[in-house]
Amino acid sequence: MMDTTLWYKNAVFYEISVRAFKDSNGDGRGDLRGLTEKLEYLQTLGVDCIWIMPIYPSPLKDDGYDIADYYNVDKTYGSLDDLKELIEAAHQRSIRIVMDLVLNHTSDAHPWFQASRSDRNSPYRDYYVWSDTNQKYKDARIIFLDTEISNWTWDEKTGQYYWHRFYASQPDLNFDNPKVQEEMLNVARFWLDLGIDGFRADAVPYLFEREGTNCENLPETHIYLKKLRSFMDEHYPGRILLCEANQWPEDVRPYFGDGDEFHMGFHFPIMPRIYMALKKGRFEDMAEIMRRTPPIPENCQWCTFLRNHDELTLEMVTPEERQWMWEQYAYEPRMKLNLGIRRRLAPLLDNDRRKIELANSLLFTLPGSPIIYYGDEIGMGDNLDLPDRNGVRTPMQWDDSPNAGFSINEPYSELVKGKLGYQNINVASQIDDPDSLFNSIKRMIAIRKKHAAFGSSQMEWIETGNPAVAAYIRQHEEDTMLILNNLSGSAESMMLPKKFQQNYLDLFAQQKYIIAENLTLQPYSYLWLQMQR
Ligand code: NOJ
Repeated sequence: MMDTTLWYKNAVFYEISVRAFKDSNGDGRGDLRGLTEKLEYLQTLGVDCIWIMPIYPSPLKDDGYDIADYYNVDKTYGSLDDLKELIEAAHQRSIRIVMDLVLNHTSDAHPWFQASRSDRNSPYRDYYVWSDTNQKYKDARIIFLDTEISNWTWDEKTGQYYWHRFYASQPDLNFDNPKVQEEMLNVARFWLDLGIDGFRADAVPYLFEREGTNCENLPETHIYLKKLRSFMDEHYPGRILLCEANQWPEDVRPYFGDGDEFHMGFHFPIMPRIYMALKKGRFEDMAEIMRRTPPIPENCQWCTFLRNHDELTLEMVTPEERQWMWEQYAYEPRMKLNLGIRRRLAPLLDNDRRKIELANSLLFTLPGSPIIYYGDEIGMGDNLDLPDRNGVRTPMQWDDSPNAGFSINEPYSELVKGKLGYQNINVASQIDDPDSLFNSIKRMIAIRKKHAAFGSSQMEWIETGNPAVAAYIRQHEEDTMLILNNLSGSAESMMLPKKFQQNYLDLFAQQKYIIAENLTLQPYSYLWLQMQR
């Protein structure tokens, strides 16, 4: 039996924007009660853990990643009691809930920053990073390239610059101040006491600044994060920390420490390589990044995803690969954002059911626990008319009634238009249709959860003689899976090594499958086979 504190190693995650999911009170904005109403849907899909985007009071300059009060829920989402009810209802269905913990910065509307900028002698001055010059930390890159020209912004009243890695409206907290460190532990305690199952820790590489470095992944950062972890282990065993560090695998590796820092970390670089593989019809880029991925401690797990609420980030590819990805996937200028592409899964993959399923086959069978971005399980579209990343944060498409069954009133955002809009793509039409995308994804999840092999760290690439076929073994004890994905748009034949020419169980068809010598896979098709001993 698996240690239950390791639940995340075999879990399927689902990311939700509460505003976008379901409106329960008719104000046009999704809320916690709306989400509670939809837990049954998530349970039907097979979700083990929900990650909810920030629900703290916020001026929403960065959709809630600009927090004005760490100890409350923005009233548009409901109340702390609504959150407690959501957590209880989710737990009754064996669904866990993690939330965003934004450590690096606050909103400029946060009372700490208001006090900090009111007077150089304020006790809160040192909660943020101030300087007489904007010439410090010149080696730190700018992340929101399309909007920010510097990581420093001048404050007229107190005559100094303040430091921020994201929008100027998100001043960075000063983690060199022990009071700040303490405040953030208190924040964590508050939500853990409320029953939350852990945190997706936002933007962790940037907590500290040091001259002469790029101000990312500094040793001081790891020391602090280990403190947070040991605090959680001591008081809240079984709750998790998920690391958002958009970095190369070797640079994310230290965030797992010796199994004493993060439980989980997003695997950023595999994501764009899945899209590269599908376009090139070649698996090599994926295999290369997996080979480059160092082993992680036994109690840790990668977290994999195809899309999330941000742009499809291209920070973890070479400049040439980025250019190529933009040409392939962001052929209209407005599809680009910063170093990425602001589109959803289905439109990225030409709404081609075979490609969407294949991408999911990779997501569910590569090492790591997968996260589904809300709506991608039904193939929802995006709305490029909306600015920034809002085009991929539109209301969930529940049915084909006005407002997509999301709200009885006009939603906070324009809906998706055209063939991927709610009239054609919605939950109601897919849930009872055995051939729907929803039901294919549901079957993948169900199979994945039956086999501990998928949650294990073990993976072995198999040589098939065909570069278009991603073939690998996933294994746990006696349970061995052979996974075959044809990345190309033509039928591909292959020859597996002798030891793999044997009898299998096709996990989808639930039928015997014999591999003898040559084998041909249809365009963009996949097979999940269990070895029969
Ligand atoms: C990463 C989040 O995913 C993104 O949405 C946000 O804008 C930045 N961190 C800043 O908090």
